[in-house]
Amino acid sequence: MRARRALLYMPGVDWRKMEKAAGLQVDSACLDLEDGVAPEHKAEARELVVRALGELDFGGTERLVRVNAADSDLIEDDLNAILPAGPDGIVLPKAADAAQVRRVAERIAIAEMALERAPGGIALLVQIESALGLVNLKEIAASPGVSALVFGAEDYASDLGAKRSADGEEVLYARSAVVAHAAAFGLPAIDMLWTDFKDAAGLQRLAAQGARLGYSGMQVIHPDQVPVVQAAFTPSDEEIAHAEKVIAAYETHLKEGTGAFALDGKMVDMPMVKAAQRVMARAGMD
Ligand code: COA
Ligand code: MG
Repeated sequence: MRARRALLYMPGVDWRKMEKAAGLQVDSACLDLEDGVAPEHKAEARELVVRALGELDFGGTERLVRVNAADSDLIEDDLNAILPAGPDGIVLPKAADAAQVRRVAERIAIAEMALERAPGGIALLVQIESALGLVNLKEIAASPGVSALVFGAEDYASDLGAKRSADGEEVLYARSAVVAHAAAFGLPAIDMLWTDFKDAAGLQRLAAQGARLGYSGMQVIHPDQVPVVQAAFTPSDEEIAHAEKVIAAYETHLKEGTGAFALDGKMVDMPMVKAAQRVMARAGMD
């Protein structure tokens, strides 16, 4: 599965930022046609993003494009322009129900055939960022063709009329629900963003919290956030050493027919072993 520790947005109307993103070694770059672009620049952004997909060398960075919402009158033109240009994935914002997701997945499947790509060759990342999207999470997560769920805290809070706070308690229920539904359907989940891009300590705190909740990456909006976030979603040397120890001890005890055992004065059984295996997978050492 592709690592998307940091997913960096930039307005599709801003060539300089797209060019810059191509050289940042960020896991995923998301060329935005939606909230980052003013209504009068939508057509111009569409053209620039198509050009960027054709002309810029993003190296190992995944090239995603965020189209406008399924209930907007822009999405048809967005998909018609972007899909033939062969992005690595589409981000669908403000997903409200499974029918919307299905329609986009069908368009992607047709484009994959036209581009002679394997099914799933163009990813579909679905943003949950409204009350309705949250209520319909199960059907959305179960929709064929979905590659990942993405939690959008700002739009979600605004849809609820919730007031944003530094500790984010007003979005915690939705934030947890998104990652739980993603896990239930075998999908990775990408966490909310930290808008105060000058506050690296706040970003670090939020990223660590997201990783603890089970997210495998988060959205970012500024180049300075990329290294902080990519490090936060990479297992540390201590985590890897501990995981290796747990797995080695488990294998020894398995031969002796023991399920639960003690390691460094603490009980270890299957959930801890699975967590250790996940750490190794995230470190690319499984
Ligand atoms: N992607 C790529 N490059 C970016 C970038 C981004 N998201 N944000 C900033 N940069 C670049 C700038 O171009 C600048 O490079 P340069 O001086 O070589 O041209 C450098 O990083 C430093 O930028 P800085 O001056 O600190 O920021 P800014 O004032 O130009 O921009 C924002 C601040 C918030 C407007 C900008 O980071 C941004 O547009 N973020 C994305 C917004 C977005 O897409 N929102 C919708 C999705 S939530
Ligand atoms: Mg938004």
